[in-house]
Amino acid sequence: MNSRATSEPEAYQTERGRGGPSAPGEPPAPVDVVASAGIGHGRRPRVALVGGGTVGGAVVSLLAGRPEFELIGVLVRDAARRRAFPRADELVTADVGVLADADVVVEVAGGTGQAADLALRHLARGLPLVTANKAALAERWHEFVPHAREGRVHFEAAVMAGTPCVGVLAGCLRGSRPLALHAVLNGTCNVILAAMEEGGTYDSALEEAQRLGYAEADPTLDVGGLDAAHKLTVLGRLAFDPDLGWQEVRSKTRGISGVTPEVVERELARGRHVRLVASVAPEAGRWLATVRPVSLPHVHPLLTTGATNALLFSGDPSGPVAVRGPGAGGGATASGVVADLLAVLEGVKGPLPLRAAATVPTTFPDEDIEEL
Ligand SMILES: NC(=O)c1ccc[n+]([C@@H]2O[C@H](COP(=O)([O-])OP(=O)(O)OC[C@H]3O[C@@H](n4cnc5c(N)ncnc54)[C@H](OP(=O)(O)O)[C@@H]3O)[C@@H](O)[C@H]2O)c1
Repeated sequence: MNSRATSEPEAYQTERGRGGPSAPGEPPAPVDVVASAGIGHGRRPRVALVGGGTVGGAVVSLLAGRPEFELIGVLVRDAARRRAFPRADELVTADVGVLADADVVVEVAGGTGQAADLALRHLARGLPLVTANKAALAERWHEFVPHAREGRVHFEAAVMAGTPCVGVLAGCLRGSRPLALHAVLNGTCNVILAAMEEGGTYDSALEEAQRLGYAEADPTLDVGGLDAAHKLTVLGRLAFDPDLGWQEVRSKTRGISGVTPEVVERELARGRHVRLVASVAPEAGRWLATVRPVSLPHVHPLLTTGATNALLFSGDPSGPVAVRGPGAGGGATASGVVADLLAVLEGVKGPLPLRAAATVPTTFPDEDIEEL
């Protein structure tokens, strides 16, 4: 692959990189804000991806229509495998050296191992990172947090894909005192539980979810509640307690594999639905983060079908604020990633960590969420 590969003539790039005028019919020249953000030095920021799978491929496709960035490479494990995204032959590489030339790294590989190491190495150079990797953020936050305090870690896509939640919790909702947060954060569990309502067993519903492409071949992270726990840990630190620990959340996580058809039927007969809900709420004078199957009434902001995610934040004086939308999928997640890249381009900081834990209220709203 050619790490400097581009579909545009060099002179055109240079002119546009200087914020020069556009020729008729050309896209508008970007304002030269990149230099003020400390990256790019007045030219288009060079972007390299770690990961060229479901999300990475969709990010490449979306960036093909974004001439303000120069995509210089896509790091994968197996560079010989054929990829369906644009310019794959030029971009795909297994050489980590491609990251050394990047102004911005986008980590869409996943896991808490090598991909997270590469992301942290890039941050250590004082450069911005865009990541969709909630597992790394949840489990290795102490390594990311010094960079996050400088606003160089952008992670909107890590929770609820392109549906806004990270930015709003770290942004406008900070004007309110948080009272509680409840969220449906795992589409696979939602699909399985909804299928069980149609009369399936847990095993048949899981098989169906796998056949439809919702569940991974190894669904442990999803059905065990760990994926939702990773996401809840990320959100909880943004709005409630900056020191919320991963092990603490994990110890209060129960997935859906123990949900029986009898329980699903019993709740249906009561006009209620079983769903996997992740919550941060006051408990005995402290913030408690939990993930577990609960019972929701037939009309409720968290009740969704399919892979749709939903979040309900209660604050004082904001009142209840609900957000819902696609929580997974290449396109939806790439949308969040590209939004973060545009923020980097404009010199907008990533979500800043809370300075201190929010005061735990003595009363909070009854959201009609019943424990099972
Ligand atoms: N899929 C979604 O809907 C979604 C939604 C929100 C967030 N996310 C997050 O986005 C990330 C990517 O998810 P995905 O669904 O796109 O995964 P995926 O389809 O399995 O793709 C992972 C990609 O990363 C590459 N990779 C893995 N480890 C690597 C390493 N150590 N060095 C270089 N490349 C490596 C793989 O290379 P090979 O192709 O050569 O194996 C593959 O191209 C994860 O953190 C996930 O949690 C996903």
